[in-house]
Amino acid sequence: MIPPHKVDEILHAARIDEVIGEFVNLKKSGSSFKGLSPWSDEKTPSFMVSPAKGIFKDFSSGKGGNVVTFIMQHEHFTYPEALRWLAKRYNIEIEEEKPTPEQEEARNERESLYVINEFAQKWFAEQLWGSEEGQNIGLSYFKERDFKESAIKKFQLGYNPDDYQAFTNESANRGYKEEYLLATALVKEKNGRKYDGYKGRVIFPIHNLSGRVIGFGGRTLKADKNIPKYINSPENAIYDKSSTLYGIYFAKQAIAKEENVFLVEGYTDVIAFHQKGIENTVASSGTALTKEQIKLVSRYTKTVTLVYDGDPAGIKASLRGIDIILEQGVNVKVVLLPDGHDPDTFSKDHDRIEIKEYLQDNARDFIVFKADLLMKDAHGDPIKTNEVIHTMVDSIALIPDTILRSIYTTECSKLMNVSEKALISELNKSLRKQHKQRFRSSNHREDELPEPAVIETSFTEEKKFTEDTFEFQERDILRIMINYHDHSFTMEDQVEEDQPAPEAINVLDFLLNEIEQDGLDFENESLRKLFEALSKHMDQHEKLQVNTFINHEDDELRELFVDMMSFPYNLDNWARKEIIVMPEEKKLRRAVLESIYAYKDKRVQRMLKENQEALKEQTLLGADATQFLMRQMKLESIKREINKKLGRTVLH
Ligand code: CTP
Ligand code: MN
Repeated sequence: MIPPHKVDEILHAARIDEVIGEFVNLKKSGSSFKGLSPWSDEKTPSFMVSPAKGIFKDFSSGKGGNVVTFIMQHEHFTYPEALRWLAKRYNIEIEEEKPTPEQEEARNERESLYVINEFAQKWFAEQLWGSEEGQNIGLSYFKERDFKESAIKKFQLGYNPDDYQAFTNESANRGYKEEYLLATALVKEKNGRKYDGYKGRVIFPIHNLSGRVIGFGGRTLKADKNIPKYINSPENAIYDKSSTLYGIYFAKQAIAKEENVFLVEGYTDVIAFHQKGIENTVASSGTALTKEQIKLVSRYTKTVTLVYDGDPAGIKASLRGIDIILEQGVNVKVVLLPDGHDPDTFSKDHDRIEIKEYLQDNARDFIVFKADLLMKDAHGDPIKTNEVIHTMVDSIALIPDTILRSIYTTECSKLMNVSEKALISELNKSLRKQHKQRFRSSNHREDELPEPAVIETSFTEEKKFTEDTFEFQERDILRIMINYHDHSFTMEDQVEEDQPAPEAINVLDFLLNEIEQDGLDFENESLRKLFEALSKHMDQHEKLQVNTFINHEDDELRELFVDMMSFPYNLDNWARKEIIVMPEEKKLRRAVLESIYAYKDKRVQRMLKENQEALKEQTLLGADATQFLMRQMKLESIKREINKKLGRTVLH
């Protein structure tokens, strides 16, 4: 028997991506990892690991769980066996077991790189603040640029003396391994001679999400055009450029709070905005945006605002890259700074309030911005205009959210002066094209591929047959229950300051209650099972113990629960009807109410249909139909009630 505190220690130490990475070749994909399912013979990865949530999900076999259940299933171990295996893997002694030399070796490289970077950062800062050269050259450069001391300290800026061996000698004397020093390129080697990689440069350390230094950018202080302005760390075991954003560690809280992130170009822009108090700012550091970077920020917000200097050529060049962001289901806005200004220079001339106001007043929706820019460019030329329409349609087709897609279609039809009907038909063509491409690149059987979600209009004759099941709604409700189990919302906004605040209602309690009080049973068998388990669990516990379910011994329950968690519920879908950003709480209210009332509405509709059929039959038989007529009226009145509630939530 493993004592509980040991179990905790093991669960705490075990990193799910590390452990699974030993059995499955995992590739980073935003905040998660992806790989080929170890339980099937697939060619397209459908196996996901989320370190943030501590779960894995295999979409091909349906298996899912935490690090322990993975080991149990993969190695066919019992629960204690799996724990022992993990304990061994993480050098946690249960009995008397010692780490093997190979285990130590495996952790060494990453840890060594972190340690060297930390040492280097500290040493560069010491040079900047403590040496004469550092003060006269490095510090005075930063001050000339209007960097405040507090910002220089916060971002841990530094200086590498203008000497070929300053850092090289220091790090060698301290006994850091050559192999790792070269891997960071803080020390370089040419013809057997070692020298400083950042000689005579001011240093911008790059931090990961948890604040550890993973790389550096070094700016030259020389005006010489022949030397590179910046030298950036090469990729190594701890630095992956495409999934890093400069400033993310300092910005993440503000991003979540503001529900928006400003994306600027470089190091100096980030620092300039931060020191003006606009802390939800990060930079992609000179390279084109990547999917991974967008996934990284979309953990905190679903709105990205790109801040550009007012140069149209530069903007046009980057338009295509922005499609990547749209594809991730993120709202994109654009702010153009006045001509000739970048965030760095703009913040020199303006105070915090002016900057904030400028950003707020000038943020435009990306799709609208793009259509506008391209249409102006086409100067009414019919061929060019036609091209623009197709470009726009292709962009809109990338947006995963159907509601948002149709809003943009309407918007663009006005902007480009094309009928909405024509745009929709083009859009649906583009969607089908994308769909086919995806199908070709996937390895699924044709019947497994869902239909593309094309926009339907009243003039489309072939109205799609809506399936008569409640699975979609039932899943929707469960996802909200699970993902927002410890959130609350209020039915009404607070009207006046001096009025009492409306009562906060817990999401999980509310939904459980709404379903139970109407005596509704979920129709889908597995979903009903999960609902009932949740309901029973909540009778016994004050709060939902997520781990109980992630660890659940019932495979079906556990897998379904993890499935719900692996698709985080996206509240933004409920904000999009207005495009303007709603506060989180209102979105939550709307999501909760719509999920439950849309479900009830659908159920009542089916009851109505069934009743009508019975009524018809009774009438044909010449039997007494009063009972059915009464029921009809009752159901219709319930339906009106529900619709009133739905209508109210939609209007907000
Ligand atoms: N950059 C780079 N390598 C270069 C030039 C630029 O990596 N040779 C990246 C840096 O991340 C830089 C960003 O692109 O911060 C923007 O470039 P630029 O505007 O030239 O640099 P700033 O940092 O704004 O520097 P400064 O204002 O001092 O010219
Ligand atoms: Mn600049």
